[in-house]
Amino acid sequence: MNRKILITGGAGFIGSHVVRFFVKEYQNYEIYNLDALTYAGNLENLKDIEKRPNYKFIKADITNENEIRRLFQKYKFDGVIHLAAESHVDRSIKDPLAFARTNILGTLNLLNSFKELWFNDWTGKRFYHVSTDEVYGTLGNTGLFTEETSYSPNSPYSASKASSDHFVRSYGETYGLRYVISNCSNNYGPNHFPEKLIPLFINNIINNKSLPVYGNGNYTRDWLYVIDHAIAIDKVFHQGVNENTYNIGGFNEWKNIDLVNLLCSLMDEKLGRESGSSEKLVTFVKDRPGHDLRYAIDANKINKELGWKPSVTFEQGLSMTIDWYLQNSEWLERVTSGNYQNYYNNFYSIR
Ligand code: NAD
Ligand code: DAU
Repeated sequence: MNRKILITGGAGFIGSHVVRFFVKEYQNYEIYNLDALTYAGNLENLKDIEKRPNYKFIKADITNENEIRRLFQKYKFDGVIHLAAESHVDRSIKDPLAFARTNILGTLNLLNSFKELWFNDWTGKRFYHVSTDEVYGTLGNTGLFTEETSYSPNSPYSASKASSDHFVRSYGETYGLRYVISNCSNNYGPNHFPEKLIPLFINNIINNKSLPVYGNGNYTRDWLYVIDHAIAIDKVFHQGVNENTYNIGGFNEWKNIDLVNLLCSLMDEKLGRESGSSEKLVTFVKDRPGHDLRYAIDANKINKELGWKPSVTFEQGLSMTIDWYLQNSEWLERVTSGNYQNYYNNFYSIR
């Protein structure tokens, strides 16, 4: 079946893996990657597939209501996989409004444009909203987030994502929108922007810079390899039941300080440095305000109903991730220097 699928945020970390997966796997689909190319968007992530006939890039901002409506009317997307977002908690603490604009108003623009197109017949149409486990707030030392856990967001980022989840659900109830939502735990892997814990620390270790661990480092996250998230998104998009939420996680909890110590020892080994040298870079710094203590996902629903589970262990995934950063030092250099932002102009001006 020919389908026209809009993937938003496809130049970002997770989005680029999702776009690649869909472009390669579904050659009979037309895949449209819509991205505003903010600081987090990097088209170099998609160099290997950018000339494929079933792929098209659209530079647009989801907060631009008229432009989004025009694009939906023009291309008549029958499926949307929505990942575009402001995604970094620390940035949301500095500038909450930017998160409300993109994550809430941007999502509403997409919902309205999709509704205007298909309101009279939703058959075969699907809006997939990609969300985060942070909407559930924080866990104590025990327990897991299930699909029934009530929302209790603690940061401006998670509050904006929670709000967008609610809007998606409300469009289902009010207008009959066919939707699915997934809430995933922390991703890691290639092409991760080096402001988040794992890529930041890999970059800092390479450059012998300090490793700023927030607070006492006893915060826990549940880590998932990004390609396993892309595979889960494929399953939810194609097999998920309308109006359902699926929690996605790695069955893989790590305290930050333990993860950092593992990363340090792997990096020492791979860089041929004396054992213990990276760990000396660890510096405990002021805590993040409103820092959630622990996230951990119960991913049994997606496991049982859709047959998904992570395909790599954390040790394998982390090792592959470090290797990717060491083999792609040019990508890292271009991202940290800002040069990657010229890629769009250079590539698209010669087409
Ligand atoms: P990212 O910050 O790496 O990428 C976001 C992408 O969205 C970028 O390409 C950026 O240019 C684009 N974008 C931002 N604002 C835009 C706008 N106004 N219009 C159009 N495009 C815009 O984010 P990520 O880590 O890849 O996360 C992708 C999605 O997955 C987000 O919705 C996030 O909430 C969710 N998520 C992330 C994680 C994680 O661990 N990274 C976990 C669970 C859920
Ligand atoms: O849980 C899913 C979420 O995971 C996603 O929705 C977010 O988009 C994504 O950014 C991520 O949020 P976190 O805040 O958990 O990720 P981050 O990499 O920023 O931080 C991970 C942990 O490491 C967290 O406890 C804060 C800590 N940390 C982070 C940084 C950047 C440090 O101790 N030092 C740091 O420099």
